[in-house]
Amino acid sequence: MASIKKYDFDVTHDFEGLFSNKWNFRKEKVGREDVIPMWVADMDFKTAESIQTALVQRAERGIYGYTSMTREYTDAVINWFKRRHNWAINDNEIITTPGVISALHIAINVLSIPHDYILIQPPTYHPFFQVIKKTKRKVLENPLIRTSTGHYEIDFDDFEHKIVQYKPKAFILCNPQNPTGKVYSKAELLKLGEICCNHQVVIIADEIHSDIVFSEAVHTPFATIAPECTDNAIICTAPSKTFNMAGLQNSNIIIPNRKIRDKFREALDRYGFPRPGLFSIVATQTAYNTGESWLEAVLQYIEGNRDYALQRFSANLPQLKVFRPQGTYFLWVDFNHYGLTNEQLEAYLINDAGVWFNQGYIFGSQGSGFVRINIACPQSIVAQALTQIENSIIRIPGKGGAGGRW
Ligand SMILES: Cc1ncc(COP(=O)(O)O)c(C=O)c1O
Repeated sequence: MASIKKYDFDVTHDFEGLFSNKWNFRKEKVGREDVIPMWVADMDFKTAESIQTALVQRAERGIYGYTSMTREYTDAVINWFKRRHNWAINDNEIITTPGVISALHIAINVLSIPHDYILIQPPTYHPFFQVIKKTKRKVLENPLIRTSTGHYEIDFDDFEHKIVQYKPKAFILCNPQNPTGKVYSKAELLKLGEICCNHQVVIIADEIHSDIVFSEAVHTPFATIAPECTDNAIICTAPSKTFNMAGLQNSNIIIPNRKIRDKFREALDRYGFPRPGLFSIVATQTAYNTGESWLEAVLQYIEGNRDYALQRFSANLPQLKVFRPQGTYFLWVDFNHYGLTNEQLEAYLINDAGVWFNQGYIFGSQGSGFVRINIACPQSIVAQALTQIENSIIRIPGKGGAGGRW
């Protein structure tokens, strides 16, 4: 008898009418209905069944009035991070926000004043640039360095030098790193933490991808590396990437330092975000209490997609350099071999290859000529996208191409 799969991530779902940012606005956003969408950071999989059931059961009660946070919610968050990451969070350190981006806005407002510098490590998650600019602060860059072995490393001398020269008030760390998939080592975090502590720079650690780490890597929560670091950090976590529930809008911001926490809470109150929405409370506590086996299965599936895609790139598209991610569900792919402008690369991918990825330049100038591919989807979709690239890439002129559009 054939075994019944507990989770079937090979299933392709119908996205019609879901208001899915990734799937339902292709015509409006890139002019073509038929591109394979592998851009924005959510998964094409259904979330864990226990989460869906809990939401349906709560919805069926029909009473959607004001709610309060429960002890069960806080315990679910605390137990998850203790169990999965060996991080002991105290219940009074948790503040909920509608998302990590809103938390970044509040954190920057609390830690700095207009025209202060905020330090980031590009190529990095593009909204970091926007948040800094929208809050009228200045972007200070400590670019990650690409090594010949296909990894990204930190330029610590430049990091400290920039801090001494420009006196940023905060450093936004992205770990696991979006878009490169780098998972910072404990030694790297300790060194960054020490430099920041020595120069009174608060670390805003965006750890939204902390649960999406492959078998060869381990995520180290910034708050666990040293007591001085714990006391000098705002750590942004969320169940949204882990359980594919970004549409429910919820994140847990952990602030061990009481002074910073009080200021953050006061600012949050001013914006009028008193508590998460009812359905995000239900989903978050159910996810953290019951979603672990689903997560293990989805991680294994995505790791399989990563290995499959890397193998196809190296066999059929060796001219494209692909960085092997240790975490996140992105592939960071270098198309610079072809010498295209960013506009030409985008036009080729959309019009010739029929695939929609995030363009690398949005993650900073270091990402020029790169793309970020979201592989949290059925493997048949990864395979189809790669086939479309393989079949069209020969039309790119220049090195290895046969000439054509440009
Ligand atoms: C590093 C990082 N931070 C934050 C976010 C967005 O978080 P939220 O939707 O909770 O605002 C994302 C989403 O892709 C992300 O990759």
